[in-house]
Amino acid sequence: MEHAGPGRVETGSEDAQIVVSGVSHVYRPKHGRQVLALDDINLTVRRNEFVALLGPSGCGKSTLLYLTGGFLPVEQGTICVLGETVRKPGPDRGIVFQHFALFPWKTVRANVMYGLERKGVPRREAEVRAAEILVQVGLKGFEDSYPSQLSGGMRQRAAIARTLVLDPATLLMDEPFGALDAQTRNLMQIELLALWRRSPKAVVFVTHDVHEAVYLAERVVVMSARPGRIKAIVETGIDRSDPEFVKSRAFVEKVDEIWHLIHEEDGKAAP
Ligand SMILES: Nc1ncnc2c1ncn2[C@@H]1O[C@H](COP(=O)(O)OP(=O)(O)OP(=O)(O)O)[C@@H](O)[C@H]1O
Ligand SMILES: [Mg+2]
Repeated sequence: MEHAGPGRVETGSEDAQIVVSGVSHVYRPKHGRQVLALDDINLTVRRNEFVALLGPSGCGKSTLLYLTGGFLPVEQGTICVLGETVRKPGPDRGIVFQHFALFPWKTVRANVMYGLERKGVPRREAEVRAAEILVQVGLKGFEDSYPSQLSGGMRQRAAIARTLVLDPATLLMDEPFGALDAQTRNLMQIELLALWRRSPKAVVFVTHDVHEAVYLAERVVVMSARPGRIKAIVETGIDRSDPEFVKSRAFVEKVDEIWHLIHEEDGKAAP
């Protein structure tokens, strides 16, 4: 077992893509209760590393992604992405939201092209890139459909395509495959790994599915129940060159090890 303890910080390392140092986050809604969502998070994601983030519901996984994406202000601690302190959203960081939203008045193609056009990519090139990514997520033939005409899983894939097409250096994905059936999910996992190999980038991938985490990630970060802290970081160390690797003993044991770490947190969330 190689569980790195919490608090191990490698700030400023050349090898680091995301450095989260001493980050806590309190939600203070105008109405309703204050919640300490994250408590002193220290985490380094290495250059072009694929990390999965797991933990019980309400432990702050989405919060950590929003902070890294610049969608919530970092009030305590710091987050650096490629050496820059995060203060606001930026094109270097692409995010697939847990509760994704598409522009309902735009077609699938127009939704996917939107970010490219905002970046100033010429229309013709944007069309080609949108068409390619829509094939990869299995939406060929639905380019002219509107989101309301798609199933939930298809909408989710359109939202993923919209972020992937921008090819950001840092990709933040919040339960992106949650609404997909098992078979589509597996196809999307294969596509995502292929894309990550073709176009290296750091990926932080939030999931509740331990199997998915071990399948995709080089390291799995397990968070404790609210307030979220880092409980353990597990290197998966899986040799993915074997096409049957999911059946290997190493894979099955890793899933089991992480499953136990997560279930130790059951019923522990602070009120
Ligand atoms: N806008 C908000 N206002 C007040 N409290 C919030 C808000 N958003 C989240 N919280 C609180 O912060 C905690 C962390 O929420 P977050 O959405 O980050 O959890 P999560 O790990 O992503 O959960 P899930 O697995 O269910 O998506 C929750 O316990 C919730 O009570
Ligand atoms: Mg969440």
